[in-house]
Amino acid sequence: MAITLTWYGHATIGLETGGYRILVDPFFSGNPAATVKPGDVRADFILVSHGHGDHIGDTEAIARRTGALVISNFEIATWLGRKGLKTHGQHLGGGYRYPFGYLKLTFAIHGSALPDGSYGGNPAGFLLITTTGEKVYLAQDTGLFGDMKLIGDEGLDLAALPIGDNFTMGPDDALRAVELLRPKHVIPIHYNTFEMIQQDAHAWAERVEKATSARVHVLKPGESFQL
Ligand code: NI
Ligand code: MN
Repeated sequence: MAITLTWYGHATIGLETGGYRILVDPFFSGNPAATVKPGDVRADFILVSHGHGDHIGDTEAIARRTGALVISNFEIATWLGRKGLKTHGQHLGGGYRYPFGYLKLTFAIHGSALPDGSYGGNPAGFLLITTTGEKVYLAQDTGLFGDMKLIGDEGLDLAALPIGDNFTMGPDDALRAVELLRPKHVIPIHYNTFEMIQQDAHAWAERVEKATSARVHVLKPGESFQL
């Protein structure tokens, strides 16, 4: 297998590829869906999509303990760098070649204020091309946008998309997102963590598989999908 994706509930994702462990939006403390404690996770790299508390989460504690390099937009990377963490700042539309693959920050429609009210720059999604060529898009928190079609033009193997509604796309827009992105495999995220974002992921999966050629994999928190 070339990449394994583990969903920890909410938008918290673990990727394993090329022998590296990458944590995305590591929200464990205070995440009612999380099945592991922040002190138990391993990470070589941490990706932070935007400044909200349910995404920056346990980044500081995990990065301090593991020495992981934190990758985010320039504003968040600078904010975390001032706390003494190892960081790499990028910006939307820009990609960089890391040992685990080529990572580009993509557009997202959302906010990004940091927990202390600091300006957190623009929110991002992630497009990862692994060293073995798999293309993975992690939308993280976003509304639907038409340029998802451009991201889809990459030829996606896997996409993680929010379906919770209220703060992000809901099921209807997430289905339209699949139509624009045309990924082979889809994993729904950012739902059922809190009362306000309750969704029936299995019903959504059925709709998507009927309307598109994508395969939807509804994971339980802690479960993995291998590509
Ligand atoms: Ni958010
Ligand atoms: Mn969120």
